[in-house]
Amino acid sequence: MEKKPVYYHDYLQLDKILGSQHPESFERNRTPAHDEMLFIIIHQSYELWFKQILFEVDSAVAVMKQPAINDNTPELQTVVHRLNRVITILKVLVHQIDIMETMTPMDFLDFRDLLRPASGFQSWQFKTLEAKLGLQYEERYGKEYYTSQLYQPEINTIKKAEQEKSLITVVNNWLERMPYFDSTENWKDFTATDQQENIHPYWSTYRACYSNSLAEAERNNLEVFNTIFIEGKQSGQLSAKASRAALFIMLYRGYPVMHLPFELLNNLLEIDEQMSTWRYRHMNMVQRMIGTRIGTGGSSGKDYLRAALDKHYIFKEFAGLTSFLIERSKLPALPASLIRNLSFNM
Ligand code: HEM
Repeated sequence: MEKKPVYYHDYLQLDKILGSQHPESFERNRTPAHDEMLFIIIHQSYELWFKQILFEVDSAVAVMKQPAINDNTPELQTVVHRLNRVITILKVLVHQIDIMETMTPMDFLDFRDLLRPASGFQSWQFKTLEAKLGLQYEERYGKEYYTSQLYQPEINTIKKAEQEKSLITVVNNWLERMPYFDSTENWKDFTATDQQENIHPYWSTYRACYSNSLAEAERNNLEVFNTIFIEGKQSGQLSAKASRAALFIMLYRGYPVMHLPFELLNNLLEIDEQMSTWRYRHMNMVQRMIGTRIGTGGSSGKDYLRAALDKHYIFKEFAGLTSFLIERSKLPALPASLIRNLSFNM
């Protein structure tokens, strides 16, 4: 049988999408508030983009959670590319606040009371995204009530995301598998300075270089450095092994084989930056729109949003690694025995 030609309207199911705007204020016996249509459409477009972001993050996690990623395939490139797309969408989401801000506080008051207790606070996709990226339950501001207004199926979705491997976990596990420090063969030509007992020669040497680079007021940084890189303690969601691998990638990203891993780490920082930029712009918009009144979701409004902004950085341990960088010219030279492994022409 001949296949029916695809019709634009049907393919996109536009009858559902375009039939899904029902402003409360347009109901009978109410005074229609013109801006409520914009309010609905902007939230719907956010939710559609959240759906796409979740789709991309899921696919990135699926690749990264494999027991091993084959460096001779485009897998890592695919992950980096999809996270780049996530970042591009997030940038659009930040800009969409401009559209929301064409609505004035008085225009909003025309329909605001009709919405209670609905609020973006009930966006289960947003909370699921936070969880899939790696925001842990214990780290949430307001964890006592963050799902209190949701229906059970949506709570289940968020809880499931919290239990699954998040992006930060799979990246941590992947970093732990970075092979360069495991073999003594790689380091046989390395000349260590300030070699400490039981410490890898590279990290003994790097510690000395780092220590020399610190100003007097920064000496405390050396203690933090020692805790992670010498004593091997976990830092937030990053194991010491993963922290070492991540810092190494940042330091030697000039080597072609480090380029994609560096892009990946950089993308994580960019995701945090775009998410927090969105939170910041949303918070300021809220302040401008409702001042110090409580949110329709019942939270303290701006104070809640400020606290979530401060607390919900997900990849902060990666960002923290930049405190341990040193000038390029002072980097310990890598031994030829290792450089051979950092080359694509083995
Ligand atoms: C007039 C415009 C808006 C106002 C006045 C507003 C107000 C608020 C307030 C006060 C909160 C804190 C929770 C509460 O008590 O309700 C909140 C949370 C939230 N809103 Fe909005 N919002 C607006 C537009 C938007 C838009 C367009 C989105 C897009 C999806 C959005 C998404 C969210 C999200 C995801 C949260 C939870 C944030 C978190 O937990 O960190 N809001 N909003």
